[in-house]
Amino acid sequence: MEAVMNDTAKVVLDGQEYELPVVTGSEGEKAIDITKFRGSTGYITLDSGYKNTGATKSAITFLDGEKGVLRYRGYPIEQLAEKSTFLEVAYLLIYGKLPTTEQLTGFSTNISRHTLVHEDMKRFYEAYPSKAHPMGVLASMVSALSTFYPESQKPNRPIEAIDLTIVRLLAKLPTLAAWSYKNSQGHPVIYPKNSYNYCQNFLHMMFAMPTEEYELDPVVVKALDQLLILHADHEQNCSASTVRIVGSSHANLYSSISAGVIALWGPLHGGANQAVIEMLKMIRNDGGNLQKWVDKAKDKNDEFRMMGFGHRVYKNMDPRARIIKKACDDILNKLGVVDPVLDIAKKLEEVALKDEYFVSRKLYPNVDFYSGIIYRALGIPTNMFTVMFALGRLPGWIAQWKEMIENKEPIGRPRQIYVGENERNYPG
Ligand code: SDX
Repeated sequence: MEAVMNDTAKVVLDGQEYELPVVTGSEGEKAIDITKFRGSTGYITLDSGYKNTGATKSAITFLDGEKGVLRYRGYPIEQLAEKSTFLEVAYLLIYGKLPTTEQLTGFSTNISRHTLVHEDMKRFYEAYPSKAHPMGVLASMVSALSTFYPESQKPNRPIEAIDLTIVRLLAKLPTLAAWSYKNSQGHPVIYPKNSYNYCQNFLHMMFAMPTEEYELDPVVVKALDQLLILHADHEQNCSASTVRIVGSSHANLYSSISAGVIALWGPLHGGANQAVIEMLKMIRNDGGNLQKWVDKAKDKNDEFRMMGFGHRVYKNMDPRARIIKKACDDILNKLGVVDPVLDIAKKLEEVALKDEYFVSRKLYPNVDFYSGIIYRALGIPTNMFTVMFALGRLPGWIAQWKEMIENKEPIGRPRQIYVGENERNYPG
């Protein structure tokens, strides 16, 4: 489906009127196309943080922030979270349609056969300090993958050649992630098993030891699979935009994904899930005075922010947060886990959503507010939470990169308005 050019916008600059095309997307979203704006007017537009600027036309994910709607390739997130699996969703996002049973079996089998990484990569882990944050390790290990597959660095390869890199990334990220954790614990790495599915393998590599097997709980496996689905894509977020702009220079896919991992690490983005748990534990240790912390979040002179609250595009409850909040109760009950941090989170949400500051700014819990509570119940350590986000987001990053390359989009290079010194001579 293409965006339709069916209207125009008029701009008057220095007494001259300019007509600009308006494009309308398949969900009725409208944009003024300024592709030729500077060439015809000599002006540029300015939009710090791109809050009002579309970077591309995409057919991957649709979200409506006002209504709290999220769909992957047209399928509502609620249905995918309930009925699909992470690898099926990954295929959907990357290739644009749900796979047939045969296609999904081939995709899953292919992935399970590429889960090993070159033995030389184990040596890299030994070079990291033991307390290295797994996100810092993961980003560099993903970039290092490109050095083991030099053919992936050829920019003008046929797009089909990218399929093997896509499989390698999906297959090896769980291994690299689990090994980052083992490295941080000073434990020996655990190798993947082809007989396990995607989530079983990750949990096995995370928690098994050479001396004892890890008993796979179907509740834990299913909960992890659902969390990965909920994180799989989110249109032009900070890390996806990073992957696109790095890829737009025709850097290889491994390097583009590595850049996405780093962008995701920030506490304003994917790093928020770790920051939320740290915040909730801090509030609990501080005596649980919720109003005190809500007031601090509102105080412009206080650097404290309510982590896991607010969103650039959702001005309603993040639909993923709604699903995860409900899953919290289900999963903790099934696992027999009682987590006081969950009670604090629910009460904090209740206090905040009655406060005019949050209500007037439409600040609701986002995907990161409750996800960490499930990760804790699954036994995932806090400093691995953003790694879990990266595992989930990988297919979305790949899909965004692939769409940008297939559409032959130009190298990303924003303009600026210079506000520095005018010309002056070097002294002497
Ligand atoms: C993700 O984009 C995506 O799709 C991202 C993501 C994805 O799936 O890829 O959904 C994942 O990154 C979710 C967001 C996780 N981050 C956090 O939970 C960190 C806490 N949230 C905020 O830092 C903030 O809400 C952002 C960064 C998420 C959004 O910031 P914006 O869009 O730049 O909004 P803003 O900072 O301009 O806030 C508007 C107002 C400001 O107050 P005023 O200037 O109007 O007085 O709301 C206030 C802000 O101070 N505000 C908050 C707040 N978030 C916004 N005040 C207190 N606590 C907060 N959390």
